[in-house]
Amino acid sequence: MQICVISGSPKGEKSVTLQYVRFLEQAFPEHTFSVAHVGREIRTIEQQEEVWNGLLAAIKECDGVLWATPVYCLLVPAQLKRFIELVGDRNAMETFSGKYTAALTTSIHYFDHTAHAYLHGVCDDLGMRYVGFYSAHMQDLEKEASQEQLIQFFSDFLEAIAKQRPIRKEFPLLPAIPSHYIPMSPPVTVDTHGKRVVILHDAEPGSDLEAMVGELAACYADPIQVAHIQDSMMKGACLGCCRCAFDNTCIYDDGFRAFWEKYVIPADVLVIAGTVRDRFFSATWKQFFDRSFYNGHVPAFEGKQIAYLVEGSLGYLANLREVLTSLVMTEEANLAGIVTNEPGDPAEIDAALYALAERSVRLSDRGYIAPATFPAVGGHKIFRDEIWRGMRAVFKADDRYYRQHGLYDFPTRNYLQRISTRATSLIMSIPGIRREVVKNMPTYMVQPLQRSIEKSTVLAKRKAKE
Ligand SMILES: Cc1cc2nc3c(=O)[nH]c(=O)nc-3n(C[C@H](O)[C@H](O)[C@H](O)COP(=O)(O)O)c2cc1C
Repeated sequence: MQICVISGSPKGEKSVTLQYVRFLEQAFPEHTFSVAHVGREIRTIEQQEEVWNGLLAAIKECDGVLWATPVYCLLVPAQLKRFIELVGDRNAMETFSGKYTAALTTSIHYFDHTAHAYLHGVCDDLGMRYVGFYSAHMQDLEKEASQEQLIQFFSDFLEAIAKQRPIRKEFPLLPAIPSHYIPMSPPVTVDTHGKRVVILHDAEPGSDLEAMVGELAACYADPIQVAHIQDSMMKGACLGCCRCAFDNTCIYDDGFRAFWEKYVIPADVLVIAGTVRDRFFSATWKQFFDRSFYNGHVPAFEGKQIAYLVEGSLGYLANLREVLTSLVMTEEANLAGIVTNEPGDPAEIDAALYALAERSVRLSDRGYIAPATFPAVGGHKIFRDEIWRGMRAVFKADDRYYRQHGLYDFPTRNYLQRISTRATSLIMSIPGIRREVVKNMPTYMVQPLQRSIEKSTVLAKRKAKE
């Protein structure tokens, strides 16, 4: 069979992910692999018609398409995102339609599931027959057990093609937003209390997003900063070179860092405004997120109120919502709200924008940061372990930050807790005590909490104020 590999890594032949493809090539010599270096060649693919046509011809002729890509900032790299946009913009969906497909990624398993859900949704939209995915940790190929697993995954893919296995779509097509948003001026405005409010957007002139950005800006009584992310003058997308790892200095010498320092760092309230293109924000926004990787694995939005304005059917894009909300939480910021143009009714959108303006300042005044949920709690542990385990040899800036901020918070370092757990565990081996504890487990579980309520100085201060 002829397999067309769409490689998303900007590193081309030096891609970690591509080594998994090379392994498969050797494991299945009876099949032919052709690799399209979409991540590395995106500029040429976009600008040169013959290259674009050659790529489409390769896809048309093949029996199966394998997306092979690294996970970048909770999704695929901006370069691959741009390629997917081009397929839509240039009406090339027909070339992909009906093709059997599978996805192979490498990462450190930090939001690899959102990258896969995105690719799956895109494949469904293109009418492809999505067989499944393989998500490898970047070093898995060093283990023979993983090599066996990879062979099994790929065998299943080949069998699906050979037997023309029926495949169901999992992601329904996105509905269009019925009406155009025409805002009314807000009746009253929100005092910013000296907070710096910044809106970053990539709105097209005349779009609903542009109208939402203008309306939100008008909701604040004081002037706020509004900037188009194209003004960051990015010369290109992240190259994955990891030059930034040592001291947070990017290989590009362009306007991105100055833009970041001008708008993102000083913002108390940061509003990110984007239009849904396929199943994510635009490739330009993705490039912006990827380029922010120069900050390393440290919470770049720490303490800020973050809000989103979304033009598009976010209600049908649980995966995009997960990425947007997780980006806030993992960066130790607070989600002030998300407003979309989905309601259609302009009055409803106006009201939501006003409420967002008011809430963003109020929460910023109070310094409220909501507790993290599973993605950020789990995400922290992945970063902590990966950086400590080996990445810190190169990611020196991360290592410094993790040490200074107590982020190497391994439970193994809590010696008092360990001694007490060991002692409790020994006591629990006494049958009489164990029986007693099992019988009264709920009581023992709430006892420390009840003591905290009794001794709470926070409650005492509140009561004193009454
Ligand atoms: C800009 C950038 C963003 C990344 N984002 C993630 C991420 O969100 N989750 C993750 O698990 N790994 C992330 N990684 C790690 C890569 O996925 C991993 O190193 C991968 O194996 C690189 O593959 P490649 O050599 O094929 O490009 C990121 C790496 C870079 C350079």
